[in-house]
Amino acid sequence: MSGEIGKGATVRGRDDGLTLQAIDVSVRFGGLTAVDSVNETLHRGEILGLIGPNGAGKTTFVNALTGFQEPTSGQVKLGDREISGLSPHWIRRHGVARSFQAGRLFRDLPVSENVEVAGVSMGLSRRRAHKHAMELIEWIGLKDKARQPAGVLPYTDERRVGIARALAMQPAFVLLDEPAAGMSDLECDDIMRLVREIPARFGCGVLLIEHNMRVVMGVCQRIHVLDSGKTLSRGSPDQVQKDPAVIQAYLGHG
Ligand SMILES: Nc1ncnc2c1ncn2[C@@H]1O[C@H](COP(=O)(O)OP(=O)(O)O)[C@@H](O)[C@H]1O
Ligand SMILES: [Mg+2]
Repeated sequence: MSGEIGKGATVRGRDDGLTLQAIDVSVRFGGLTAVDSVNETLHRGEILGLIGPNGAGKTTFVNALTGFQEPTSGQVKLGDREISGLSPHWIRRHGVARSFQAGRLFRDLPVSENVEVAGVSMGLSRRRAHKHAMELIEWIGLKDKARQPAGVLPYTDERRVGIARALAMQPAFVLLDEPAAGMSDLECDDIMRLVREIPARFGCGVLLIEHNMRVVMGVCQRIHVLDSGKTLSRGSPDQVQKDPAVIQAYLGHG
């Protein structure tokens, strides 16, 4: 690979007006409508929370935005360009990165290389990818573990590496699927401190899936609530918290 910065890596220099947009996106699995005519526009520099109970369609919606699931109907647009139906690889190359609910690290490779390969896959030289990876690893607090195989990491560290890997692609948008799932309150707060820094530090727009309402309220400027695939509510944390539909849906669910 040459020392040239690949296409995706230049995304950072793009106009700040770039958006990732879902227009009436639906995803059906047989008789089940997992995502039902959802509209949303993610801007750079913001953190949008996507919340809703288990099975609400959050992951399926992110899959539709990232090419892992072709919408049954509706459009996904990156800027002016329609990207629905394009491959996950194409979408990644053009600035939309994601983390997964379950870790997908190369368990035998050192932590540093797990992050580095993401940069290399975007066209960075090995040297630049390594430098960038080490900065990210320091940021996530794993400098001392950079040489350890990813497979020996505790779960919470694994999730951090997942975030670093997504950011190593120098995306314009990063979609994080429950990065704090299964963590204690303290561990969750630690991860959220990192998430909060992403827009200013990396110039990305962030979509954060998280089912804990308290956590989302503290991190996100805007919130989109899904319930059975449909938009239940959208707005600022304050607006959403006061929405009778949300109160009713969350009553007794903490
Ligand atoms: N590949 C699939 N095939 C069939 N049904 C699916 C598939 N993926 C998700 N579903 C169903 O779609 C609904 C939404 O799932 P999901 O997007 O994973 O919800 P969430 O992430 O909000 O928990 C659930 O009822 C789930 O069982
Ligand atoms: Mg999910």
